[in-house]
Amino acid sequence: MLDAHYETFFAAIGDALHVTAHSHHPWPDITRAAHLQYWEDSARLTNRKWQEKVFGEVVPEAQRHVARHLGLADAALVAFAPNTHEFVARLYSCLDWSRRPRVLTTANEFHSFARQTRRLEETGRLEVSRVPVEPYATFRERFARALVEPCDLVFLSQVFFDSGFVVERLDELLAGIPAETIVAVDGYHAFMAIPVELGSLGRRVFYTAGGYKYVQAGEGACFLSIPADCHLRPAFTGWYSDFGQLSGAQGERIGYGPAAMRFWGSTFDPSGLYRFNAVMRWLDGLGVTAREIHAHVALLEGRFLAGLASAPLARLPLASLTPPSGQPRGNFLTFDLDAAEDVEGRLATHGVLVDRRGRRVRFGFGVYHDQAFVDALLERLGRALA
Ligand SMILES: Cc1ncc(COP(=O)(O)O)c(C=O)c1O
Repeated sequence: MLDAHYETFFAAIGDALHVTAHSHHPWPDITRAAHLQYWEDSARLTNRKWQEKVFGEVVPEAQRHVARHLGLADAALVAFAPNTHEFVARLYSCLDWSRRPRVLTTANEFHSFARQTRRLEETGRLEVSRVPVEPYATFRERFARALVEPCDLVFLSQVFFDSGFVVERLDELLAGIPAETIVAVDGYHAFMAIPVELGSLGRRVFYTAGGYKYVQAGEGACFLSIPADCHLRPAFTGWYSDFGQLSGAQGERIGYGPAAMRFWGSTFDPSGLYRFNAVMRWLDGLGVTAREIHAHVALLEGRFLAGLASAPLARLPLASLTPPSGQPRGNFLTFDLDAAEDVEGRLATHGVLVDRRGRRVRFGFGVYHDQAFVDALLERLGRALA
């Protein structure tokens, strides 16, 4: 229970009950100082900040945090960008567009990938197979069957944004895919929400996530870890991809820097990485990892669901929980409701901040919530949804 570390943010929210820990995470106080530190470094170092501070200290530290939390052997294989969409576009730019590339994905990817993919498909230059996540119990088997067909890109979430359903044992599911296929995992709802140990899978796949959700550090700090032997030459490339060769003559073959540099873009606002590092250092100092965060959230979810079982709310029936209890779940609860918009509106009127994706209302608990918060939430839901 770390609520004392979020005073500034919660003072601004007033008495609203914030239950969107999975999406718009409150920022711990420590991030405010980190943000100001960025300003001060910019004033003190002006354009020297990039070499001395950002690429000299901030990026290597952020790479180490990512590598530690994912169980990656080599931190140098982690690139950063302002959002994951930039990495999606860069991965797409690695495909061979002289023919029609084939993509295998799911029908439940977040919009950054789903929209980009649909748009490319609309041009007629991409062939896409989508495996629906539901029914959950057979997803693994159905995705594994689809993997038998050769394709150029495999892209799937580790935890799905529209349900919280977790794909367990990714290493087994993604084993045996031919080396020439690009395999990418969207881990945004997994990173710092559930324990992730990529191990040898980390040397084979691309893995992307960022700072806005469970890291609690705000925007602008997304990452991509790349496979150990990656020599791809993204066509969508910025000058940071080859920092060392700025003086190369025009007309020479485009070069790419070492390790993950080939997946960098260009000038960005590094303040997100300052906040990212500050949160990681703070959690590290407290000995808090994704394992503790997940266990804490699961405890609160258990209390919340027990409360709904003992005092049922017709507008929020337990039967609408998806995936149903018993299936692996990330760090939020999803209710699939005909009247989702009405429920969201009633909750907002009573100062309960949740979010909604279409028919799905999502409740997310965080490390700053405790059991008393869950009881207060249930009491307020009782009034809002009576
Ligand atoms: C699964 C998943 N991936 C990625 C993102 C964020 O995408 P981007 O960084 O392109 O905004 C989200 C945001 O909600 C998400 O749920």
